[in-house]
Amino acid sequence: MAMAKTTSRNAARKAAYLMDCATTYYPEPLTLVSGEGAYVTDEEGRRYLDFFAGIAVLVAGHNHPQVSAAVHDQAGKLVHTSTLYLNEPVLDLAEKLSELSPPGLDKVFVGNSGTEANELAAVLARHFTKRSEFIALAHAYHGRSAWTVGLTGLSSWRNFGAEPSKVVFAPNAYCYRCPLHLTYPSCGIACAKAVEDVIKTETSGNVAAYYAETIQGVGGIITPPPEYYGIVKEILDRHGILFIADEVQTAWGRLGHNLFGISDWGVIPDIVTSAKGLGNGLPISVVIARREIADAYAGPHINTFGGNPLSARAAIATLDVIETEGLTANAAAIGDHLLARLRDLARAHPIVGEVRGRGLMIGIELVSNRDSKEPAPAAAERVLNLSKDKGLLIGRGGLYANTLRIQPPLVITRAQADEAAGILDDALGVADREFAQA
Ligand SMILES: Cc1ncc(COP(=O)(O)O)c(C=O)c1O
Repeated sequence: MAMAKTTSRNAARKAAYLMDCATTYYPEPLTLVSGEGAYVTDEEGRRYLDFFAGIAVLVAGHNHPQVSAAVHDQAGKLVHTSTLYLNEPVLDLAEKLSELSPPGLDKVFVGNSGTEANELAAVLARHFTKRSEFIALAHAYHGRSAWTVGLTGLSSWRNFGAEPSKVVFAPNAYCYRCPLHLTYPSCGIACAKAVEDVIKTETSGNVAAYYAETIQGVGGIITPPPEYYGIVKEILDRHGILFIADEVQTAWGRLGHNLFGISDWGVIPDIVTSAKGLGNGLPISVVIARREIADAYAGPHINTFGGNPLSARAAIATLDVIETEGLTANAAAIGDHLLARLRDLARAHPIVGEVRGRGLMIGIELVSNRDSKEPAPAAAERVLNLSKDKGLLIGRGGLYANTLRIQPPLVITRAQADEAAGILDDALGVADREFAQA
C-alpha cells in the first residue's frame, strides 16, 4: 500500500508543479530512481528492461562505471567554464572527434542539445554559401527552438545566419508508404531524385543546405534504401548545396558498423550534428564541419553551458567505452538478431504492418488492416502500456503515432533482446485481438 502511495503522490506533484507540456509516457507516469546497464528501477522497486534508453541516449547503458568515474573525477575539479574560456576536456574531445569523424570533418563546436547543434549548422551553412534557403524532409524532426535571436536587441548579436529562413520539404524515403506511390527498387529511388525537382521548382536556387536525419527517429524509424544518400549527395554537389547530416539519434554506433550512421550509406556529409548518446546521459551536442565551412564563420557565437567540462569528460569516456567494449559491433550483431525476431513476430501478428531499421534503431509500424495500411495509433499505445506492465520500456513515434520505437542501450545482450521480443509477442497478441481487422 505504501508503494502505491508514492506513485500517486508523484502524479499529484507532477500535476501541481510540472507544466503539462512536458510529455510523459503512460497514464500513471513512471518515476525512475536508478539504472544499471540495460535496466532501470522505478520508485516502487520495479525493474524494467529499458529499450528506449531515455530517447535513444544511454549508448553505454545506465550508470556505466567508467563514465560515472570520469564525471565524478571532473566534478571534483571544474564543472563549468562557458565558451569564453578553454578547458582541457573540451579540447581533448574536439581533438578526438576530429580524428573519429568522416574524413574532412575536422572542426567541432560543443553545445548542449541537438536543437542548438542544428541551429548552429544552419548559421555555418548560410555564412559559407552566402545563401539563405534550406531543404528538409517530410516527417523530419530537428528540434524545438523559437527565434531568440529575433528577440535580441543588440545589433552585435543579431548576426546574419540565425534569423528564420525559408524551408521547403522534399519527400522522404518512406518505402512502406511511398509519398510518390512507387515501389522499391523499381522506383529507381525517385524520392532521392525529387530533391532536384524541389530545388528547381520550390526554391529560388538560393539553397544553403539540405538537412536529413540519417534514419528519421521521431518520424517513425524511416530508413532510406542503400542508394538514397549517394543520389542526393550528387545532386547537392551539382547545385553547391551543403549536406547537413543530423546524426542526433544515429551516431555513436547505434546503427552498427560505423560510429556515424551516415557512413553506412557511403557518403561524407559537409556538416554533422549530433547529441543524445555522446554524453551517455549528460547534456552535450556537437557540430562537426569541414574546416573551410567552420572557418567561414568566426562568430560572434556564445553558449553559456557550451563546452562544458563535465559533459566533455562523460563524452570522452563514452567514446572509450564504445571502442573498448565493441559496442558498434554489438549493435550490429544484436540488432540483426532482434530485427529477425521482430520480423518473425510481424509474420505472426496481423497488427504489424512493417518492421524496419538498422542496428539498434528499430521501428514496428502497426496497422489495423494490412491491405489498406490504416494506421493503428491506439494499438501502439496499448502495446506501449502492456509492455511497460510486463517490464519493458519502449518508445513511440511516426506521423500517425503508430510506430513502436526500439532504441536500447548498445550494451544489450542476445538474452535481453529475446526477453524483449517475448514481451512484445504477448503485447502484440493482445493488440491483434483488440485492433486488427479480420
Ligand atoms: C534527429 C533529431 N534531431 C534533433 C533533435 C533535438 O535534440 P534535443 O532534444 O537534444 O534538442 C532530436 C531530438 O529528439 C532528434 O531526434
